[in-house]
Amino acid sequence: MNTLVDRFDRVHDYLRISVTDRCNLRCVYCMPAEGMQFEPHEKIMSYEEIAAVVEAVAKMGVRKLRITGGEPLVRKEIEKLIGMLSAIPGINDIALTTNAIFLAQKAEALKQAGLTRVNISLDSLRTDRFAMITRGGELARVLAGIDEALRVGLGPVKLNVVLMQGQNDDEIADFIRLSMDKPLQVRFIEYMPIGHNDDSWRTSYLSLQTVFDCVAEMGLTYEQVENVYGNGPAENYRIPGAAGTFGLIHPVSDHFCGNCNRLRMTADGHIKSCLYWDDEWNVRPLVGDEKAIQDVFVRSINTKPENHEMALALNQETQSHKPTVRRMSQIGG
Ligand code: GTP
Ligand code: 5AD
Ligand code: SF4
Repeated sequence: MNTLVDRFDRVHDYLRISVTDRCNLRCVYCMPAEGMQFEPHEKIMSYEEIAAVVEAVAKMGVRKLRITGGEPLVRKEIEKLIGMLSAIPGINDIALTTNAIFLAQKAEALKQAGLTRVNISLDSLRTDRFAMITRGGELARVLAGIDEALRVGLGPVKLNVVLMQGQNDDEIADFIRLSMDKPLQVRFIEYMPIGHNDDSWRTSYLSLQTVFDCVAEMGLTYEQVENVYGNGPAENYRIPGAAGTFGLIHPVSDHFCGNCNRLRMTADGHIKSCLYWDDEWNVRPLVGDEKAIQDVFVRSINTKPENHEMALALNQETQSHKPTVRRMSQIGG
């Protein structure tokens, strides 16, 4: 039985675990140009501590895990953690969100350890532009990572494309064609104002209606796809005959909080009930006392907001939105 039910009858069976706030890239929407002050190693949860928390919440009904970062593959021998988590009774889906720079060399070991699938961040299919958006990333390595993930069966492989006005919105058609050629689930994501102190995100934000407009301009039709594996926030579509699908994740223009089943744990062990909500509780000192860990999750659930206020940020033209304390790379998306 699931005991993680909140005030709005939402059942929580999905925990997103950030295993590090470090990253080998610095995407423009995620980190400032000068980089970030990373947490010292001693503040980061050990694999044993993470597994202890997962054991506690698996008994409350958590079935699905997503490993995030920063970049999870920069953490040493991450496959060991995957192996530990996949042995926990009740856990039946362990996914990973990665920038894929290290994926080609890690995919096989991850699959063997029990990883079920990967979501890959990829905002441009052009080498120079990709390097610019990620501030130094090598596109070829990501493409090799995608191919290797498909080869070893880490699927369905989903691509995350954060749509940015004037930066990659001229590549929508290329991404749609990619979803037709390869068995990939391309998801266009609205730029979210997470951890931004100013309104700079506003100039990059683009509503996802742009994607439908582009598909129409390409002279293509599409149909809605139900039951894409994994129950994340994307709405999914298929061009008839395509090998893959394309999808939209629109937390800003139209939130999907009504059926949210997600909880989050930061790399330093704080439980967050919502991405865009600053309340959090440190569970790390409680490792060793399973009941105390479970109580923290119940407390977190009990204050979870009905929905977030990102749309408000979009509509308040003159007033700045309330910035979140943590940046995206510290929460894991
Ligand atoms: P699956 O559908 O299970 O494959 O995963 P996902 O799409 O939830 O995970 P992923 O890490 O690939 O996230 C894709 C995008 O969705 C990222 O930009 C996340 O920040 C965003 N996202 C995921 N969950 C939430 C959420 O609860 N609220 C908001 N606002 N955005 C979310
Ligand atoms: N808005 C939307 N998506 C974001 N991501 C990181 N920062 C933002 C943002 N400000 C995405 C990354 C990654 C996922 C975890 O979150 O592209 O794929
Ligand atoms: Fe790193 Fe992901 Fe943030 Fe890009 S979006 S800087 S890959 S954590």
